[in-house]
Amino acid sequence: MASTLTDLTSTITSALSSLPPQEKIQDGERMQLLEAINRLQAELEPPVVSLRRFCFSHYPLVIIRVAQGMGIFDAFVEAHGAALTTQELSSKTKGDDKLLKRVMRFLCAHGIFKETAKETYQPLPLAMAFGTGSAPGNMIKHFHACMQASAKIFEYFEQRDHYFEWLKKNPEIQEAFNSVMTESQKHRGDDWFDIFPVTEKLTLSALESSDRALLVDIGAGVGHDIKAFKNRFPELPGKLIFQDLPQVIDTVKEPNSDGIIAVGHDMFESQPIQGAKAYYMRTVLHDFPDKQALEALSHIREAMAKDSILLIHEHTTPEGGNVPPLAATLDFHMMEIFSALERSEQQWVTLLEKAGFRIANVWKGQSATVPVALFEATLP
Ligand SMILES: C[S@@+](CC[C@H](N)C(=O)[O-])C[C@H]1O[C@@H](n2cnc3c(N)ncnc32)[C@H](O)[C@@H]1O
Repeated sequence: MASTLTDLTSTITSALSSLPPQEKIQDGERMQLLEAINRLQAELEPPVVSLRRFCFSHYPLVIIRVAQGMGIFDAFVEAHGAALTTQELSSKTKGDDKLLKRVMRFLCAHGIFKETAKETYQPLPLAMAFGTGSAPGNMIKHFHACMQASAKIFEYFEQRDHYFEWLKKNPEIQEAFNSVMTESQKHRGDDWFDIFPVTEKLTLSALESSDRALLVDIGAGVGHDIKAFKNRFPELPGKLIFQDLPQVIDTVKEPNSDGIIAVGHDMFESQPIQGAKAYYMRTVLHDFPDKQALEALSHIREAMAKDSILLIHEHTTPEGGNVPPLAATLDFHMMEIFSALERSEQQWVTLLEKAGFRIANVWKGQSATVPVALFEATLP
């Protein structure tokens, strides 16, 4: 094995000495050879060398930008590519000599200059390309500026909470949010149980009704929807449960009144209420992009019994024109606040199918503001 590699090293070394001059190399051939070299490097490079490469890869951009700022490249352009000593350079550039030498050492080590005699620097083609106003020089400036943003990406992801996490730390705004949700329930047109045949589909047998949940409203806010349901169908047997994040449930004045149970629950964790007859969610998933929506749906799917029903009550943005301005505006609101979106009817169907559900019906009602639909889904 060692001898194969030794042979390879001498082949490459002799190839280097017989390489034709740059201008005689055709682009296609050049790229083919470079690709082979890259593959060879990827195969040979030990992890520690890769690691070092990752850790130090930003320095050329940084030091070239520093050299630009010091006027080093401009000095060589002005001298028409003649070699310059540290002393000569010093009089034409900004910064002290010690820094100048260190920068020049770095640029020589990276194939941008060649030190032809002690502290005498000959520019190589790339050095002459970095003068002020040149396209390569501007490329360095631009990507160095972009690098400021790259350097912050980690911090950005670390610090960026989802809106609901942020609300948790701002109780006053959390209360305001809950109140907006409760108020809007009063003005939004048909309730879901106006358009869904409750007495036909949401009934429990006499045997199971004592301890089975009839309805779990997930992401229910302070429970306004389920209270309205109870008012409309006071006699229906089975438990009525509403869930929201603990920080929301904590604000509920009378958590377990009217036979309705309030439960603090994060929908990204496994659903504690197993086998309810129906799980309902109203305008919760539109606050989340598909990845998170699918995760929340998977927890519901796992909790469902064979005859359970999933009811997703959501805005449906029309496709192909006639989009009410509020619907289009809400879409941007979802993007801005939640990195999410308002979905069309087809996008909801696709999402639910992707989550492993079968769509049994799409119920539509009158809405005061934007089009809505109630998606009735079951296990396949
Ligand atoms: C737009 S509001 C809808 C409230 C209510 N369903 C309605 O239609 O009036 C979204 C609700 O989802 C809740 N929510 C957000 N993230 C949640 C999570 N991880 N688990 C449970 N609920 C969550 C919020 O606290 C909020 O009450």
